[in-house]
Amino acid sequence: MANIILTGDRPTGKLHLGHYVGSIKNRIKLQNEGKYDEFYLMIADSQALTDNFSNPKKVRDNVLEVALLYLACGIDPHKITIFVQSQVSALTELTFYYMNLVTLNRLLRNPTVKSEIKLRDFGESIPSGFLNYPVSQAADITAFKANIIPVGEDQLPMLEQTREIVHSFNRIYGDVLVEPKEVLPEVENARRLPGIDGKAKMSKSLGNCIYLDDSDEEIKRKVMQMYTDPDHIKVTDPGKIEGNVVFTYLDVFSKDDDFKKYLPEYHNLEELKSHYQQGGLGDVVIKKFLINILIDVIKPIREKREELINNLDYVYDVLKKGTLKAQEKAQETLVSVKEHMGLDYFSNPQFLEDMKDYFQNN
Ligand code: TRP
Repeated sequence: MANIILTGDRPTGKLHLGHYVGSIKNRIKLQNEGKYDEFYLMIADSQALTDNFSNPKKVRDNVLEVALLYLACGIDPHKITIFVQSQVSALTELTFYYMNLVTLNRLLRNPTVKSEIKLRDFGESIPSGFLNYPVSQAADITAFKANIIPVGEDQLPMLEQTREIVHSFNRIYGDVLVEPKEVLPEVENARRLPGIDGKAKMSKSLGNCIYLDDSDEEIKRKVMQMYTDPDHIKVTDPGKIEGNVVFTYLDVFSKDDDFKKYLPEYHNLEELKSHYQQGGLGDVVIKKFLINILIDVIKPIREKREELINNLDYVYDVLKKGTLKAQEKAQETLVSVKEHMGLDYFSNPQFLEDMKDYFQNN
C-alpha cells in the first residue's frame, strides 16, 4: 500500500511555537526521512470559516501568511504538496455524502468539538457547519487516500471520526476509502505546548503565544514574564519543575549542545533541574538560557519569512501549483466514491442499459 501523508492548519492567524513543535517540526522530519509516496499539506480555509464565517477577511489574509511560514520553517514544495482547501471542491462534495453516515449525537459527543463549542460561547446556537467540521476533515483525509496523519493530540477525536466514516462507507458502498492513522509528536510536552502564562495551550485568543516571527526583543520580553514557580521567591528557595513553563520549554527545546554554548556551568538539563529543585538557582538564569535557545530557533525562520515576503509571487505560485495537483487527486477519489454510490449516470453507459431493463420488467 502507498504511504500517503496529509495534514493541515487553519489559517486564522500567524503560526506560533506551539504549531512549530506540535506539528511543523514533525512534518519536516517526515519530509527529510522521505519514507512516503505522497505528502499533502493543506491550508484549511474552509474549516477556518466554520467558526469565522462572519470574518472572511481574517481567513483570506492568513492563507499566504501560513504558506510563508511553512516555507520559512523549511517545508520543501518539491517534496510536499501545499494546497488551499476551499479550491478543491471535491472535498465539499465528499463532505455532503459522508454527513449521511454520522449522527447528530455522535458529532455532539466529539470531545474536541465539545470544548471548542464552550470556548466559543455558541450556547444553543451552534452553526451546523461548525458541528460538521469533523466530517469535512474526514473528507480531507480520505480524498487523498491518506493513511498517515501527523497531528497534535487535540485532533485524535477527528481521526476516530474519520475511521468510523471509512468503516461505514466501505461496509455500505464497497471498499474504497483508506483507514488513516495518526502520528503524534515524540516529545510528550510538545503535544500541547503551554502558553507563556502556564495555561493549558498556546493560543492566539488567550494572548499567550510566542510567534515564529517575533523579534529577539519580543522573545526576551515574553520569556521574562513566563510563569515559573510562584513559591520560588528568593534564589535560595527550592523551586518546582512541574508546571514551571520555563522547564517545560527547556524539555522541548534544549539540547546538550546549548549548555556548552550558553550555560557551560551545567552539562545537561538534569543537572540544571536538580540545582533548581535544591534551591540556589534564580529564575533569571534559566530564563536567559531559554531566551538564547528560542532565538536560535526563531531567528532563522523570521529572516527567511522576511525574504519570502519580498518574493510573494513565488509563494503564490507554489500554492497555485500545489492546489492544481490536489484537485486532480481528490477528483479521482470523488469519482470512485460516486461510482460506488451509483451516482455515475452520465459516465457509465450501464446506467441507461439498466434502466431500459428496469422499465421493461416493471
Ligand atoms: N483541524 C486541524 C487543525 O485545526 C486542521 C485540519 C483540517 C486537518 N483538516 C485536516 C489536520 C486533515 C489533519 C488532517 O489544526
